[in-house]
Amino acid sequence: MPAAPPIPVLTIDGPSGSGKGTISRLIATRLGWHLLDSGALYRAVGYAASLAGIDLSDAAAVTRCAGHTCIGFRDPGDGGETRVLVGGVDVSSEIRTETCGAAASAIAAIPGVRAALLDKQRAFRTAPGLVADGRDMGTVIFPDAATKVFLTASAAERARRRHKQLKDKGLTVTLDDLLREIEARDTRDAERAVAPLKPAPDAVMLDTTGVPIETVVARILALLPGR
Ligand code: DC
Repeated sequence: MPAAPPIPVLTIDGPSGSGKGTISRLIATRLGWHLLDSGALYRAVGYAASLAGIDLSDAAAVTRCAGHTCIGFRDPGDGGETRVLVGGVDVSSEIRTETCGAAASAIAAIPGVRAALLDKQRAFRTAPGLVADGRDMGTVIFPDAATKVFLTASAAERARRRHKQLKDKGLTVTLDDLLREIEARDTRDAERAVAPLKPAPDAVMLDTTGVPIETVVARILALLPGR
């Protein structure tokens, strides 16, 4: 019997604020595919470690925390954003703060943490297909994905987008602070030794600066085999 074809994966990597989250969710809904928001896993570990009072530079302690933290995702069923649970508690709002983003970026540089999250991420690859959003989806987690995209946008535009997102959620933060935070996070994510933020050699680069979301979605959908 011929081997079953692999479950298709579309990887969408890029820096924070490049539009990955919104675009990945729209595409997954459009295709009826599953969605992996890998950043939420790192945020959940950063949150759990901080809550437990663990020093985030203590690699061994944070790695243990990543190994035993029970992270869950729940579809609210009303078309709204997927809820993120840590130990059964809904922490969706808590993990979206800039403080938690910085904690996620810090613990994401620990090799043991990345190893602890590897199988959890690959388990999302189920039929009929997966849209995987992150930093190393195309390079490390799903290197055999048939379609890989790397989204970019200028730091100023990414800061503006994050500012609007956070304001819509009722969180207050200044644009200047956000720009500084985004640039610091980009540097940390791109310069870490393990799975740094970088495009896979076979990724299609898309600059989303000034491009409407619908146009980006259409361009990515057109890259999928058979479309
Ligand atoms: O996508 P995000 O902003 O929610 O991700 C938060 C942090 O998690 C990001 O700064 C780096 C880390 N991360 C990672 O190292 N690898 C991924 N695949 C996803 C996120």
